[in-house]
Amino acid sequence: MRPLLIANWKLYVRRPAQALALLDATARAARTGRARVVLCPPTPLIPFIVNAIGSRNKNIVVGAQDVFWEDEGAFTGSFGPRLLKQIRASYVIVGHSERRRVFGETDSDVSRKVNASFAAGLHPVVCVGERSRKANWKRELSAQFLASIKGISRANAAKLIVAYEPVWAIGTGHADTPLEAGGAILVLRRLLAKAFGKKIASRVIMLYGGSVKAGNIGGFLDHPEINGALIGRASTIPREFERIIVRS
Ligand code: PGA
Repeated sequence: MRPLLIANWKLYVRRPAQALALLDATARAARTGRARVVLCPPTPLIPFIVNAIGSRNKNIVVGAQDVFWEDEGAFTGSFGPRLLKQIRASYVIVGHSERRRVFGETDSDVSRKVNASFAAGLHPVVCVGERSRKANWKRELSAQFLASIKGISRANAAKLIVAYEPVWAIGTGHADTPLEAGGAILVLRRLLAKAFGKKIASRVIMLYGGSVKAGNIGGFLDHPEINGALIGRASTIPREFERIIVRS
């Protein structure tokens, strides 16, 4: 399986020139690396990035950082998955811990977004992760995961992309260890196997996210359960992201 790298630019990247520098670095590295790279700019920059990529590199595609679950209606400030598809985004991050914490998103909001994204033909990347490693953290993680994918069909389960992102590791510089992250991902894969069967569970792309950088990406991708990474801060530093892609 080719590793999948999701670059979550958050609101760190705001100027078109900054976005172009990142795209150039990504394109340079993606020519030699094996990874498929999804660049997720702030939504207003998506058309600009889609145009800039053009047809120059099939390994680079564009995603959004969030979406609403309705496609039309009186929902001031929102946009639905079909509109994202129309501006040629193909992936969408759903349920990121910052959406949950800052914007109060619930597991049930997340599951609606996941189902609506599938219905529009987008690839949702479902983010889950425990807040701390207190006792029973695996139970908290499992409950959050099952509620966040509630209602998905068997056919869509096989197309799931899951990002395991322990909240305490995001933006802190303290990444999880590949061993522990791989163990948490195995817990999630077993839940999928129980719900949809082993074959489907084995196909699901599982990513690790939380303080990934060039110096630790190799260790995560070496773990047999981990199929890629969701990268925040380090994906907004051109030289650093280039190194991450080359090492993937
Ligand atoms: P980070 O962010 O790489 O800056 O820790 C990861 C994320 O928010 O997904």
